[in-house]
Amino acid sequence: MGLWHASAVTEAVMLVGGQGTRLRPLTINTPKPMLPVAGVPFTVHQITRARAAGVTRIVLATSYRAEVFREFIEGADLGIEIVIATEDEPLGTGGAIRHALPYLQSAPDAPVLVFNGDVLSGLDIGGLVNHHVAGSADATLYLTPVADPRAFGLVPTDTDGRVTKFLEKPQTPEEIVTDQINAGCYVFRRSVIDEIPAGRPVSVERETFPGLLAANAMVLGVVDRGYWLDLGTPMAFVQGSRDLVLGNAPSPAVSNPGPYLVLADAEVASGALLTGGCAIGRRAQVGAGAVVDGSVVFDDARIGAGAKVTGSIVGAGATVGENCVIDGAVIGDGASIGAGNELLAGVRIWPNVQIAAGAVRFSSDG
Ligand code: GTP
Repeated sequence: MGLWHASAVTEAVMLVGGQGTRLRPLTINTPKPMLPVAGVPFTVHQITRARAAGVTRIVLATSYRAEVFREFIEGADLGIEIVIATEDEPLGTGGAIRHALPYLQSAPDAPVLVFNGDVLSGLDIGGLVNHHVAGSADATLYLTPVADPRAFGLVPTDTDGRVTKFLEKPQTPEEIVTDQINAGCYVFRRSVIDEIPAGRPVSVERETFPGLLAANAMVLGVVDRGYWLDLGTPMAFVQGSRDLVLGNAPSPAVSNPGPYLVLADAEVASGALLTGGCAIGRRAQVGAGAVVDGSVVFDDARIGAGAKVTGSIVGAGATVGENCVIDGAVIGDGASIGAGNELLAGVRIWPNVQIAAGAVRFSSDG
């Protein structure tokens, strides 16, 4: 143990095999961690953060649409060794970590980092690992306080920082014993991964962590109050993209934070207004007088003249017609929204759907 120093961790497993159901229809064609956020697939922000923390080798645990990762990684140079492990059938979070085991090179006592593929955070990764090593822990979890923990897994700790319980998605006031939740990044002693059952689905949250506590293993929690966001829902996805573009969320993959990001070969007409940390994808077009505020416009999408797109996601190759109002909506890849439509909060348009001009109006004209 005394041999470990600042960058004690060299290997990480990134869990990127989920179906991303909450982000449909965007995840029909593209797995959630491959959706573009501030100009690069979300997973690139995580990979570059791990690299900056001293990780030299990442096992990408894929399942759903694994080929999209494979194609991207083969063509990218991220300055780090990336190995792709693919489950034939999704094995859940714990099963995916166990499936990655033969791809790991770490010694049995070495710390291995595990990341959920959809969390954007400013966590001090090196600090988490040092805490794990100094405490001779079997597992150390990154915890973050949230205002409403009901959608998450609660992880109370005692005064020594030892985890006392795992409470998945608590509902009653008695169950809400802490505001600390599992933030989706943890360190395992490699030999703990060996003990996860192989070849069947396992939930790390529901089975592995509670099992470790039952076996009296040393499970520590580190509370970090810095930036944290789970990009699992459309509005969180928009928020994460804005925060990266604006520089409110840290990522080595964003070199020039600013009020907007326009990617290569996009065409923005003069008189269009880009604001609020919006991102305009490659070859996308924004017409004269259009306003794009805090939204994510994917590659090859077109925003017509005079349209107003706020807090929304416009899928790859989708078209938003002239003078449309799109607010808090998700437009699937290749969909076509005719001129003058109004699509407001929560609306999701499936890929390639065509909506005729003026077909949808929410506000009354008086
Ligand atoms: P939702 O379906 O919207 O809940 O999203 P999700 O599929 O991403 O599920 P969830 O957010 O619970 O998953 C947490 C992390 O684990 C995500 O990064 C997923 O990609 C990943 N994950 C979930 N299930 C599996 C699996 O069976 N195999 C692998 N390799 N990763 C998984």
